[in-house]
Amino acid sequence: MGKNTLTITDNRTGKAYEIPIEHETINAKHLRQIKVNEDDFGLMSYDPAYMNTASCKSQITFIDGDKGILLYRGYPIQQVAEKLNYLQTAYLIINGEVPTAKEYDEWSWNITHHTMIHENIKKFIEGFQYDAHPMGILVSTLAALSTFYQDAKEIKDAESRKLQIYRLIGKVPTIAAAAYRHSMGLPYVYPDNELSYAGNFLNMLFKMTEPKYEPNPALERALDVLFILHADHEQNCSASAMRSVGSSHADPYCSMAAAAAALYGPLHGGANEMVLHMLKEIGSKNNIPSYIKRVKAGEVLLMGFGHRVYKNYDPRARIIKQISEEVFEVTGRNPLLDIAIELERIALEDEYFIKRKLYPNVDFYSGIIYQAMGFPVAMYPVLFAIGRASGWLAQWQEMLLDTEQKIARPRQIYLGAKERDLQVSKAKREAVHR
Ligand code: ACO
Repeated sequence: MGKNTLTITDNRTGKAYEIPIEHETINAKHLRQIKVNEDDFGLMSYDPAYMNTASCKSQITFIDGDKGILLYRGYPIQQVAEKLNYLQTAYLIINGEVPTAKEYDEWSWNITHHTMIHENIKKFIEGFQYDAHPMGILVSTLAALSTFYQDAKEIKDAESRKLQIYRLIGKVPTIAAAAYRHSMGLPYVYPDNELSYAGNFLNMLFKMTEPKYEPNPALERALDVLFILHADHEQNCSASAMRSVGSSHADPYCSMAAAAAALYGPLHGGANEMVLHMLKEIGSKNNIPSYIKRVKAGEVLLMGFGHRVYKNYDPRARIIKQISEEVFEVTGRNPLLDIAIELERIALEDEYFIKRKLYPNVDFYSGIIYQAMGFPVAMYPVLFAIGRASGWLAQWQEMLLDTEQKIARPRQIYLGAKERDLQVSKAKREAVHR
């Protein structure tokens, strides 16, 4: 094997530069030495949407999109979903290892005892319009938490960070459930410390007049697995927002509000809703061939198919497909599932999809389960945010502890006007002041 370097020849000057390759990557800063003359700023790289730029070194999540592999701290997602619960997964993602029994007891006790929200936050949520989107409520309330926990500004203090992590993982489901109950015109339900993380969330959503809510174990486990599957996905749009805002040393509540806002967009957390609309539009298995024809003609997209990173079956979609059967045993079969399964079968045999490596992604089956469990469509991205909260916090903390990180500040290629004199006539100036 040759040297681990890259030699670049600048044809403008004829000069050659040898740049080190580390982790199969070159450091963009090394390009700055490539100059035409001493006054030159130096060469930059241009990469809109970070298509081929690593913004950080990370040890949290690994994805091999060609092989359809997703690892949390080295463990395959299938094993994590099968053997751990969400709170263990959150601990693993944030701290790097599966908790021991003692560590887990302390972790889950602390999160469980931070699920309450201040009564003034309840009042704040009550102030939203009856039809406010729950994701808008979540984003705003996360930011508002920052005004209640001013100690969160101590981002360099490990103990303070730990406390904010407990609070955020504990309170996100409470806020999400309050947003749901608000939209239904129902009173908010207080957390029940005797229930599991997912079981308590179901309690805060669906408890009516019964003295004690008993979650259905199959639905509780399905929701827990869905949280696990959404827990982290390396440097996606919302994780990057969390890191970027956090890099200015904003507190984690404001940073997470930014991450949740990024997730709100239909290109990120909103695709499962579109899958549901598509399946409803198709309406029956008989209409699938004509729909596929429209997809191939470029008239519509097959929603829930394709992914920027996965060029193979999204491993999360396979797990969701499996748990959907367990959910439907309780809720009754969602007829849209049969359309989805047939649609997948036909698409995966079709040359158009094979050639483009288009496979079902995480959103293809998740909306069908959420619908069967009784969630309104607007809650889908909120459910995504509950699971992702642990990933956002892990990414935020890793960024803060990384000595190579600084405030995020991309460069630009300026193509605007050159410096020029501002000419404003006296008459125009007087007209403005009148
Ligand atoms: N249906 C039909 N054709 C598709 C689809 C689809 N869902 N996805 C991609 N293609 C086609 C494109 O038209 C393109 O064809 P061409 O080469 O003939 O022009 C080719 O496949 C490559 O697609 P790109 O758009 O270049 O792939 P990109 O990586 O930019 O897009 C994306 C990925 C946005 C996810 C895309 O596949 C898509 O729009 N899918 C549907 C929406 C969706 O399910 N989003 C959820 C993603 S998962 C998540 O965010 C949690």
